[in-house]
Amino acid sequence: MARTCLAVVLAAGDATRMKSSKSKVLHTVGNLPLIAHVTQAAAAAGVNKVALVVGRDAELVTQAAKTGLDVPVTAVEQIERKGTGHAVLMARDVIGEGFDDVVVLYGDAPLIDPASLAAATTERTKGADVVVLGFRAADPTGYGRLLEQDGELVAIREHKEASAEELAIDFCNGGIITFSGAQALGLLEAIRNDNAKGEYYLTDIVEIARERGLKCVAIEAPEEDMMGCNTRVELAEIEQVWQKRARHAAMLSGVSMIDPSSVFLSHDTVLENDVMIEPNVWFGPGVRVGPGAVIHAFSHLEGADVGANAAIGPFARLRPGTELAEKAKVGNFCEIKKAKVGVGAKVNHLSYIGDAIVGAGANIGAGTITCNYDGQNKHLTEIGAGAFIGSNSSLVAPIRIGDGAYVGSGSVVTKDVPDDALAIARAPQVTKPERAQRLREKIAAIKALQKMAKSGPDA
Ligand code: UD1
Ligand code: MG
Repeated sequence: MARTCLAVVLAAGDATRMKSSKSKVLHTVGNLPLIAHVTQAAAAAGVNKVALVVGRDAELVTQAAKTGLDVPVTAVEQIERKGTGHAVLMARDVIGEGFDDVVVLYGDAPLIDPASLAAATTERTKGADVVVLGFRAADPTGYGRLLEQDGELVAIREHKEASAEELAIDFCNGGIITFSGAQALGLLEAIRNDNAKGEYYLTDIVEIARERGLKCVAIEAPEEDMMGCNTRVELAEIEQVWQKRARHAAMLSGVSMIDPSSVFLSHDTVLENDVMIEPNVWFGPGVRVGPGAVIHAFSHLEGADVGANAAIGPFARLRPGTELAEKAKVGNFCEIKKAKVGVGAKVNHLSYIGDAIVGAGANIGAGTITCNYDGQNKHLTEIGAGAFIGSNSSLVAPIRIGDGAYVGSGSVVTKDVPDDALAIARAPQVTKPERAQRLREKIAAIKALQKMAKSGPDA
């Protein structure tokens, strides 16, 4: 039978250094809350249940932890922060349900690789009762040091309690500890708070386990995977690592990026094969880009579906509800919102298309605006297949421009235009021969009079 595993995720952290009105774990990386990165990694590693230890913003944190998760989450509250050992014990009842393994994770360390969690479980199957995920710290200050002997872990010494000799060790506790579900409650309940911080240290379970003749080991993971977030500076550093990984994965899957470091992705960005992304492009949540599409420089996309071989930008903005069909084009300084743009249709310059359906092959001239809002309600604009909208037209919704219809440049269209009709809605042109020359002479004469009046009769 498959092993069962419970993840206990600690998210009752002290967030004072974030200087934030919300819980630290609600801050996002790749537009996904930190806590969701952690629970998703646990789910990817195959845990059967998550026990979430929450403090501040309990409801919001619980909701965020469930994002995209198909394993159950049980939230438990830690009202007073008395240390990591105390925090894990808040999940006593859930642990008591009985699991083969219990893994403790920190809600503010979102870069953990599910493969490392799986590696810890493998150590458990090989006979270790406690498995600690360690890393070689460039600067070990503040971390618990992993004390090893003959390939086994004998203790985790917190920085404040460590001797000079122990402080020289650079192999540190990353915070992720997997232990035997059967032993879990017995070990956790034996933890005391007789230490420098007066806290219940989860890390004490190593020495307690050894006193009971159990086996503890440490395995190594990259330091980067263990990065935790205490300040917004660290949040930005984590974001950088996450973005780098997401871009690498995208490029290895067949996406080209000319300057990857300037492309920002979201956790759910889907980029299909042969997508080309130019520098300085932002993908907010909910974007899919179909195969062969090009996203030109300085474009901003959010909640948009871009069809195969479509072209966006430079300087285009796609807002939520945008659906571009195959080979559609949205050019510079265009904004599209909640609109379907048909196959091969073009919105090439300086336009706003909102709450609209644009038919296949339609051509939307420069400066076209769908006037979708009357101050209270949003209305639909329908533009038929093959329609041609002349430059600088305002289409006052609700309105329908028929298939193959023409709208003359500069029109303010307020009534439906039938299929194949031509609508012109602008003041007719008046041309007056030689009037320009006369106008110039008149202006010059006025100017001369004014000059004379200013200098006065005595000058
Ligand atoms: C802890 C480890 C240390 C390790 C380091 C890695 C202990 C005693 N020490 O130290 O060995 O090197 O992490 O980053 O475990 N939390 C709660 N409730 C509490 C206390 C903590 O939810 O009462 C949560 C925090 O939000 C945080 C995590 O547990 O996510 C770790 O707590 P923190 O105070 O940062 O522990 P460290 O002193 O950094
Ligand atoms: Mg810490």
